[in-house]
Amino acid sequence: MQALLDFAREVRDGLSKPGQRELPSIYLYDEIGTALFEAITLLPEYGLTRADERLLRRHAPAIIERLPPPVLVTELGSGCGLKTRWLLETLARREPVGYYPIDISPSALAKCERELASLGSVSIVGLEKSYLDGVREVASRRRPGQTLLVLFLGSTIGNFDRPAADVFLREIRRCLQPGDALLLGTDLEKPVAELLLAYDDPAGVTAAFNLNLLARINRELGGDFVLRNFAHEARYRKRERRVEMHLRSKRRQSVSIREAGFTCTLKADETIWTEACHKFRVEEIPGMAARTGFVCEAQWVDSEWPFAENLWIAAPPAATS
Ligand code: AVI
Repeated sequence: MQALLDFAREVRDGLSKPGQRELPSIYLYDEIGTALFEAITLLPEYGLTRADERLLRRHAPAIIERLPPPVLVTELGSGCGLKTRWLLETLARREPVGYYPIDISPSALAKCERELASLGSVSIVGLEKSYLDGVREVASRRRPGQTLLVLFLGSTIGNFDRPAADVFLREIRRCLQPGDALLLGTDLEKPVAELLLAYDDPAGVTAAFNLNLLARINRELGGDFVLRNFAHEARYRKRERRVEMHLRSKRRQSVSIREAGFTCTLKADETIWTEACHKFRVEEIPGMAARTGFVCEAQWVDSEWPFAENLWIAAPPAATS
């Protein structure tokens, strides 16, 4: 119930913003949105997830050997078993493994547990929590001497505003002890045409993913969006180095959302901004680490799709800004 009230409030606030109307991207991921996102990861135009998986498959031994045993693993987002499997399998060859995926969605956690069930010496405990509450919980359960490895894969950090990303990473650092590790996946800059295709694929899967947000508002909050009156758009903002997803109103139209007590009139061609996907330069990552209380220990870059896996080690407090 509280979740629905929060959803209604955030939708009302976002759509009432002066200038650019917005909807928070976290609400893209209901059951249908999550299924559509999984379909996106299979598209030939969207190489991000395959690059992430290739790097983990190739470099899992090099990543694991940098972490002193015993290691306790947690993941922000229950992720895709396929990617995390390489790390857990490699680690399990060395020691028994505890793995805590963190997700607000119970169905995503259940799916993750099913996908990884065949891994023998890995005990999986899903935590249905926000990322920060989840990491705090895992940190409180750790035994003395354990190294905590936090996985934040898939370039989800790119969906934060850059300043918000720093704040979030600092919060994560506060949950850790010096010597703990964060493995951070970051999608790198690439030619604009390639990026726009990745976020506006010809099969229309990303468009469906984006439009589903309006459909979700109709389903859960009693909205009356007519989906055919909106078009998906991907835009690249050079200065901000990000792709933005928008929903463009094809005509002047009124919409109302019962549970949010909200009505407005959208102008023709006015857009609702639904997601930001920031892209990174491999050389900026060590600076991000230093600003947020880490040392960037190693980086691995995919040769087919520019994407970097970054292993950060929590620095001693004196080095924490
Ligand atoms: C989840 N996140 C990293 C994806 C991205 O590429 O920023 C979300 C996405 N949006 C559209 N396509 C994929």
